[in-house]
Amino acid sequence: APTRLWGGRFSGGPSQALAALSVSVQFDWRLAPYDLLASKAHARVLHGAGLLTDEELERMLGALDSLADDVRAGTFRPTLEDEDVHTALERGLLERLGALGGKLRAGRSRNDQVATDLRLYLRDAARQLVSRIAELETALTGLATTYSTVPAPGMTHLQHAQPVLFAHQLLAHVHPLARDVDRLQDWDERAAWSPLGAGALAGSSLPLDPEAVAKELGFAGAVRNSIDAVSDRDFVAEFLFCTALLGVHLSRLGEEVCLWATSEFGWVRLDDAFSTGSSIMPQKKNPDIAELARGKAGRFIGHLTGVLTMLKGLPLAYDRDMQEDKEPVFDAVEQLLLLLPALSGMVSTLTVDTERLERTTPTGHALATDVAEWLVRRGTAFRDAHEISGAFVAWCDARGLELWEVDDADFAAIDPRLSPEVREVLTVSGALESRSAVGGTSPGRVAEQLSALVALAHEH
Ligand code: ARG
Repeated sequence: APTRLWGGRFSGGPSQALAALSVSVQFDWRLAPYDLLASKAHARVLHGAGLLTDEELERMLGALDSLADDVRAGTFRPTLEDEDVHTALERGLLERLGALGGKLRAGRSRNDQVATDLRLYLRDAARQLVSRIAELETALTGLATTYSTVPAPGMTHLQHAQPVLFAHQLLAHVHPLARDVDRLQDWDERAAWSPLGAGALAGSSLPLDPEAVAKELGFAGAVRNSIDAVSDRDFVAEFLFCTALLGVHLSRLGEEVCLWATSEFGWVRLDDAFSTGSSIMPQKKNPDIAELARGKAGRFIGHLTGVLTMLKGLPLAYDRDMQEDKEPVFDAVEQLLLLLPALSGMVSTLTVDTERLERTTPTGHALATDVAEWLVRRGTAFRDAHEISGAFVAWCDARGLELWEVDDADFAAIDPRLSPEVREVLTVSGALESRSAVGGTSPGRVAEQLSALVALAHEH
């Protein structure tokens, strides 16, 4: 007969339909290593409470270790009869220990167990994500270092706006990633509380030691309210917010790479190993990694809204609805662990068409703001300076000229306050150099920013 963790008051087993609906072992098996860790901590607490003899504790810990080895090796696996990870592992323990295996469950419920396991899993996952994000930060700062002097058309509304350093644009994608790391580390502080000891919802009449379990499992302490301990899924929702926002950042980076790799932009070329071909068009080289980054963001946002919606209106304490919290986080973690290394590889291997960037940066009258600010420095009110520079742009547009192609004699005809000396600001290098306040795109400021971000990525 299947090992069920319940059944004393039932006259028969669950219907096939119920079993099929409620089974979770096909996905919560990922929690097995964490469940076993928590079980070892719980066994020690039972021993401390006088509920396991020295000899029983030793056999219990030995069996949990051997079960952990077999789980890792894949030689112990859940069966279709196991309702969930906790059931499967109790079966494994009973196989190894006989009746003694049945003692471990004292003072513990799947409600506090699953909340503990999931926190342990997610704290581990957060650390792995941070490492992968750091690698992407390093890929972006590496590219910024290689092309540190190359300008690019800075855009607003996807139109040429003002010249920037290409490195400045790249680093603008690193700052959000650094905040994502910060968010995950900050999340960890709130997630670092152990629900174990709460039992089903009210704590235990057995003399357990939730603080000792918490310490052994690397938590800061035990959750202060046993009802909150089993009801709280803030750590899931907040984790999913972190991954959703990270996904949005990766999507925006992905979208830019898609644009940059078009023949219309022509800023970058993707390495063969990080792009794909077409089954019909032999010339194609597609930015699939960047597109998948864009596409998967929707999925991460969906996981967040799905879990929030599931939690909304749930009465305290545990409800089975909460079993729906796991697939979203497993998927978010696993997808990000696939996506981040692919993006790092794509970014670190792409090559930049520096000649094209240099040539196109000042086009689209991207230096018109510099003209207006030149006038301001000579005493013209910005309101008038804006008008004059606008007239200058219109004059050039009508003749198919760039701002710097106007003959000396024509400046006065456009506006008497313009003169050939305006040419001193009609260069990309001048425009970049002059934006030297904190946060600006001057080479000095960008170099400063770059070294700070390189150091930060190392820390991560
Ligand atoms: N599989 C369940 C979950 O993930 C474990 C807790 C089940 N508790 C219970 N009382 N049925 O939420």
